[in-house]
Amino acid sequence: MRKPIIAGNWKMNKTAAECRELVTALVPKVKDAKCDVVICVPFTDIALAAELTKGSNIKVGAQNVAWADSGAFTGEISAAMLAEAGAEYVVIGHSERRQYFGETDKTVNARLTQALKYGLKPILCVGEKLEEREGGMTERVCATQVEGAFEGVSAADAEKVVIAYEPVWAIGTGKTATDEQADETIGYIRSVVEKLYGKNTADGMRIQYGGSMNAKNVDGLMAKPQVDGGLIGGASLKADDFAYIVMAAK
Ligand code: 13P
Repeated sequence: MRKPIIAGNWKMNKTAAECRELVTALVPKVKDAKCDVVICVPFTDIALAAELTKGSNIKVGAQNVAWADSGAFTGEISAAMLAEAGAEYVVIGHSERRQYFGETDKTVNARLTQALKYGLKPILCVGEKLEEREGGMTERVCATQVEGAFEGVSAADAEKVVIAYEPVWAIGTGKTATDEQADETIGYIRSVVEKLYGKNTADGMRIQYGGSMNAKNVDGLMAKPQVDGGLIGGASLKADDFAYIVMAAK
């Protein structure tokens, strides 16, 4: 049995003052959650979010991590900095990073390896673009991204990773994948993990769905056997909406 995990990805939203307001409202609303609850916040909110969630069941995550320990990498944040600030999770390879900031399977692999080295739990994002789905390339794209990300990663380390299947065409568009599409593609991703690491690792790996997941579609998605939770963008920015999704994940 895999424990579901619901993670909010705030993206570039919430100043520290707004973070305080949201987290303060969220803590009591999700205290009886049956799933793991994570909020992936902007770097500048991590220490505050960690302080505000202390003693609660909410874990804090970052949205990226540098691939080097330290040094001349202007604008990057190291794994040690994240861990010290209170992050336990880190989103890696989000499609917005791939699309706007030149992230490749190679850099995703380097960041993933680095996160694991420092004990951060990666949430690895994969997913196809609209033209790739329409061209029947979904499986090949997801397989390439998963294989690339896990290059050189041991089975013991791979087991610490959560994968988020996020079809790019469903992100921020209000166009969710159908329950069947999510279930089918996540099942396929699990088969790729099985080929890399064997059945036990694949069966234990949590694979979330992400892309316009909200209070209306969470029940249908979570009812699917392959869907182990969600990575939530827009709907994670309001305490009531995010709490509803969290409480629906059992
Ligand atoms: P939305 O939920 O806003 O579609 O964003 C999904 C996402 O990209 C989460 O990482």
